[in-house]
Amino acid sequence: MRIFTKLSAPLCLLFVFLCLKTTFSSSIHASSFSTTHLCSHEEALALLQFKTSFSIDYTGLCADICVDFFSTKPNYSKIESWKEGIDCCSWDGVSCDNVTGHVIALNLSCSFLYGTFPSNSTLFFLRNLQSLNLALNDFRHSKIPSEISQFTRLKHLDVSSSGFSGQVPTEIAHLPKLVSLNLSYSDLILETTTFKNLVHNLTEVRELVLNRVNMTSVNPRFFMNLSSSLTTLRLFYCQLRGNFPNSIFRFPNLKRFSLGGKRFSLSGKGNLTIDLPSSNWSSLLQHLYLSVMDCGRRLPESIGDLKSLQYLNLPQCNLEGSIPASIGNLRQLTSLGLFSNNLSGQIPSSLANLTQLTSLDLYNNQFSGPIPASIGNLRQLTSLRLSSNNLSGQIPSSLANLTQLPFLGLSYNQFSGPIPASIGNLRQLTGLNLYSNNLSGQIPSSLANLTQLHYLVLSYNLLNGTLPPWIFTLPLLEYLNLNHNQLQGQINQFRKNSLTRLDLSNNKLQGSIPNSIANLVNLSYLNLSSNHFSDLVVPEMFSVLQNLEILDLSHNNLIGKIPNCLPKSLSVLNLQANYFDGIIAFVFPEGCGLQYLNLHRNQMDGLLSRSLVNCSKLEVLDVGNNSIEDTFPHWLESLPDLQVLVLRSNKFHGSVQSTKESPSFPKLRVLDLSSNYFVGALPIRYIENFNAMMDPHKDGGSLKYMMVSTGANSYQYSVVVTWKGFDYELQKILTTFSSIHLSNNKFEGEIPDVIGKLSSLKGLNFSHNNLTGHIPPSLGNLTNLEWLDLSSNELAGKIPDELVSLTQLSVLNLSNNHLVGRIPQGNQLNTFGNGSYEGNLELCGIPLSKSCDGIGTPPSSFQEKDELWRFGWRVVVLGYGCGVVFGLLMGYLVFRTGKPKWFVSLFDGRPSQSGRKMRKARRLVQRRS
Ligand SMILES: *[C@@H]1O[C@H](CO)[C@@H](O)[C@H](O)[C@H]1NC(C)=O
Ligand SMILES: *[C@@H]1O[C@H](CO)[C@@H](O)[C@H](O)[C@H]1NC(C)=O
Ligand SMILES: *[C@@H]1O[C@H](CO)[C@@H](O)[C@H](O)[C@H]1NC(C)=O
Ligand SMILES: *[C@@H]1O[C@H](CO)[C@@H](O)[C@H](O)[C@H]1NC(C)=O
Ligand SMILES: *[C@@H]1O[C@H](CO)[C@@H](O)[C@H](O)[C@H]1NC(C)=O
Ligand SMILES: *[C@@H]1O[C@H](CO)[C@@H](O)[C@H](O)[C@H]1NC(C)=O
Repeated sequence: MRIFTKLSAPLCLLFVFLCLKTTFSSSIHASSFSTTHLCSHEEALALLQFKTSFSIDYTGLCADICVDFFSTKPNYSKIESWKEGIDCCSWDGVSCDNVTGHVIALNLSCSFLYGTFPSNSTLFFLRNLQSLNLALNDFRHSKIPSEISQFTRLKHLDVSSSGFSGQVPTEIAHLPKLVSLNLSYSDLILETTTFKNLVHNLTEVRELVLNRVNMTSVNPRFFMNLSSSLTTLRLFYCQLRGNFPNSIFRFPNLKRFSLGGKRFSLSGKGNLTIDLPSSNWSSLLQHLYLSVMDCGRRLPESIGDLKSLQYLNLPQCNLEGSIPASIGNLRQLTSLGLFSNNLSGQIPSSLANLTQLTSLDLYNNQFSGPIPASIGNLRQLTSLRLSSNNLSGQIPSSLANLTQLPFLGLSYNQFSGPIPASIGNLRQLTGLNLYSNNLSGQIPSSLANLTQLHYLVLSYNLLNGTLPPWIFTLPLLEYLNLNHNQLQGQINQFRKNSLTRLDLSNNKLQGSIPNSIANLVNLSYLNLSSNHFSDLVVPEMFSVLQNLEILDLSHNNLIGKIPNCLPKSLSVLNLQANYFDGIIAFVFPEGCGLQYLNLHRNQMDGLLSRSLVNCSKLEVLDVGNNSIEDTFPHWLESLPDLQVLVLRSNKFHGSVQSTKESPSFPKLRVLDLSSNYFVGALPIRYIENFNAMMDPHKDGGSLKYMMVSTGANSYQYSVVVTWKGFDYELQKILTTFSSIHLSNNKFEGEIPDVIGKLSSLKGLNFSHNNLTGHIPPSLGNLTNLEWLDLSSNELAGKIPDELVSLTQLSVLNLSNNHLVGRIPQGNQLNTFGNGSYEGNLELCGIPLSKSCDGIGTPPSSFQEKDELWRFGWRVVVLGYGCGVVFGLLMGYLVFRTGKPKWFVSLFDGRPSQSGRKMRKARRLVQRRS
């Protein structure tokens, strides 16, 4: 683990994987000269002088790579052994000719050298040098000196990852003896002229490694003039464009070829492409790596002719079609990587002939059908990745033969039937991921043998039976995700173990949550939501879990008091939809780190805990549907990050006026005070200060969901909103969603003009109050509004024409007021039926049957539509299908389709109890898409 986190950043990583071989071969080369003769005084002096040009930096970019991958001694540079009075031929990294005593090879790779490389360096005195390796140092953007041409005998030059930059000097072409050249992973630019000269003069060159050298001006055709003795050509991230001639595959000695690394979508020269030939491949090819480019769509049948091929990796190559069965001829193959293409068809059973394979990576394609059972022949496999395909059928039990596998990932496929018991033979497995398949049956008890498991992910399947007790005894298990299955039974006891993440949500587990949960001392994520758990034994037990960040016990049948003592580490507490009662007894300590607190739909009463102000990071507070008796919590207005405040359906009372002059609720986007006993005027001063509702373009229109991310854990917020009388749980909250619900209170007075400033509002509901006066024309400024409900008030006057500007509106309810005059026409307003206006006796015009000139209009053609409005969801969904921008509110209400991908999916949430219509709508969506 340590190595992985350490290496994820530096560029050097790529170097390691792509050039390991080259560097090793040159270093071995350099040290294979023996040293029987003393070196000359002049050469020793030149080297000592060279040494003084640099400082030694043991903390540089490549230091970790050198230590971890090249076994360089930490804090030891080869040049430390360079001392006067000792034969320079015995210095580290120096090799001399055993007859003449001349220094002929210098290997200073991984010497921690730091400093500018001087162009008058005394190194150039070493005229007999045949091999020079300066890889993995930091020459701080020095130019490669043109004096390099003085090394006329040089055969091997390696300056990879050495911090050189700028143009490669044209003098590089004056080294006619050069056999291998590695310029990779520095900031070098190789111009067309220099490259042409190089190709022309370097007739002996066999290995050319130019990864990440900027060759943007070089036409790929010029590579065809390279010497026919070429064995290695590596061109990754070279910014080449256009079609790379596939005659490269006819170079008679070519063994290793890599190309790709960046797609260009510039209209000019186009992307890098290569057409895999249908015949006449160089039969010596051992290693082929093409990636992030266009490889001519098809994997040709002729690939089977490459009898020497050991390594075939073509990820992200735009490949389509199926893998030709001839692949089974590549008996030498040890690595096959075709991931992230559009390959389809079945995985050919001829693969089973490739018994040397150590890695087989076919993930992220569209392979279908079963995994051939013969895959069990590939006993050398140490990596098998088949996730994100459409593979189906049963998981073959022959996988149990692959005893070298450290990890088995078959997630995001359609596998069905049971998890084969034989998987339990893979004793060395550290990870098993079967996420999102259709696996059924019980979790086989043989998995108890997988004592090396760190990760066990069986989520989103149809597994049933009881939760096996042994699962908590796996000694090394850190991640256990069994969520979204049909597991039953009780949790009897948690033993002390190493779990950091436990997700058992969305199963059918019942009984109490045992207080032995306190044994899971490393736990940082605990999700037991959507089960049938009935009680907490000792609510206080959670306080022992000092690393707990996410605690979700929502949607259970939990009764009794809520835990009143919580670990300080907690960021998310979700207890919604249970039967907790009593007062909210938490004392939120100073420095409380809670970001999300959801107590929705419980039976809490009493006052809202004032200590909540200590939770200065709070973003979401939802205490809706309880029996809390309190006044409006003005004291929350200083919370700088509060975005969602839901108090609906409680016994809040009194007026909702700001007590402060200064801005309050600066980030609030969702405010729901509906169904309480609030009185007095609408909260004008707050509305004036809701800055977060005033800028619809704040998030640049991208679809982001509110979530907490604590390094190891992330958790998407959910919240319950009401729409047209139904409650919906927003399983994810888009950061662009904003709404105000003040319905079902006793607010009175006029709707303030200033409401027109909240231009990012999607929903506004003031219904069922005692509001009087006119509908302010400024409402026409709320051009993002999708839903406006002012019904059942005492509003009078005309409906302002400005409402025609609400082009996003999908729901309008102005019924049961005292509105008069002609209903404005145009845009969305033409789509609403009677229901939007009924109960206003003096209104006239379409869609009402009462005409404004006193003559009745015929029954409106909107009647059918009106019917649909009553089942509002369908209409909204139809809007999608027709490409009409009807209400996009659906976009914020997300449904669960059962198979969420890591990427966001709009229809990916869950309806709450009253969401039957929602489910109906979902089916509609599914049918349409
Ligand atoms: C000198 O080195 C060459 C290889 O570089 C080797 O073939 C030869 O035997 C060596 N001669 C002596 C005297 O060690
Ligand atoms: C190299 O040139 C610099 C100035 O450009 C000078 O200070 C230094 O002494 C020179 N070194 C040698 C070895 O000539
Ligand atoms: C080829 O190398 C020689 C020196 O070896 C040099 O004089 C000549 O200019 C080079 N040719 C090109 C085209 O660079
Ligand atoms: C590559 O070099 C060209 C100049 O030859 C330069 O314009 C371009 O920005 C460079 N590309 C990168 C990615 O550095
Ligand atoms: C280059 O590739 C990208 C990504 O595959 C594609 O969108 C674009 O159209 C291509 N451009 C050209 C000129 O072919
Ligand atoms: C795989 O090997 C078997 C026998 O070893 C042979 O009959 C079959 O033709 C081979 N398939 C391929 C595609 O090479």
